[in-house]
Amino acid sequence: MNTAYSSSPPERLIELSDIYKIYGEGLESEVRALDGVSLTIDRGEFTAIIGSSGSGKSTMMNILGCLDLPTYGEYYLHDELVSSLSDQELSNIRNREIGFIFQGFNLIPALTALENVELPLIYSGAGRRARKDAKDLYGADAKLMTSRQELAYAALEKVGIDHRANHKPSEMSGGQQQRVAIARAIVTNPPLILADEPTGNLDSHTTEDVMRILRDLHAAGSTVVLITHDRDIAASADRAIRLLDGRIVYDSKRDGDDGSNGDPLGTMGAPRKGVSA
Ligand SMILES: Nc1ncnc2c1ncn2[C@@H]1O[C@H](COP(=O)(O)OP(=O)(O)OP(=O)(O)O)[C@@H](O)[C@H]1O
Ligand SMILES: [Mg+2]
Repeated sequence: MNTAYSSSPPERLIELSDIYKIYGEGLESEVRALDGVSLTIDRGEFTAIIGSSGSGKSTMMNILGCLDLPTYGEYYLHDELVSSLSDQELSNIRNREIGFIFQGFNLIPALTALENVELPLIYSGAGRRARKDAKDLYGADAKLMTSRQELAYAALEKVGIDHRANHKPSEMSGGQQQRVAIARAIVTNPPLILADEPTGNLDSHTTEDVMRILRDLHAAGSTVVLITHDRDIAASADRAIRLLDGRIVYDSKRDGDDGSNGDPLGTMGAPRKGVSA
């Protein structure tokens, strides 16, 4: 198990307590997308979420990412009870705490790579703060206008795609677009990175590039939660959690990852009976 912490005790970043997400409640068509999930994730962990189609992975990610609220249950992020916050407060938390990476990249087609990466800075006001810092440091004559661009450019540089800064998404390959999307996710330096099948649209070579970037971010201190169908990727994470029918049926941190449980990752790609995703 990769849970040995040598010096300070682990700091809890995420706590889900008996979380339910129920669609179509009260109707015959009720779907328990999450069915009583309890989970804690410490700061600095690299966790893979696996499970067949329809098992509740994206639902869990949307709740972790404060994009959606549970029907029942409590979610604490940084000891803050997220599940009781208003839309505006949730949006502030998302901007401050979370970087998202999606399978389909979700870049804005009309904007260049640089402009896409600048967007979270505009939403969070980080650009304004950076400009104020620059003004305090260098006085009114500083090149204030560029500081947001500089932050965005630095993020592009970090993931090795700065040479495409002025290209639009349609002018880039899938792997290049995903790098831009990762730059957008990390530009505000959020403690938590959530990635929902980030390599699902990529070939194996590009998948390895993207995974290397995520591992580097993790090594630099980020907490990463990654949904994947790829067994090798799941096996390479610190921790693998398997969902089935909205429940956690395997957690390598709890159940061990020494293979004594049979092949807990083995059935993750199997289709779920009677459910279309
Ligand atoms: N808005 C919704 N309304 C009704 N049912 C939903 C809604 N969103 C998800 N579901 C259902 O909840 C269950 C879990 O869906 P979810 O998207 O979390 O699965 P997933 O594990 O991410 O699957 P995939 O691997 O296909 O992405 C599924 O049965 C799905 O049909
Ligand atoms: Mg999904």
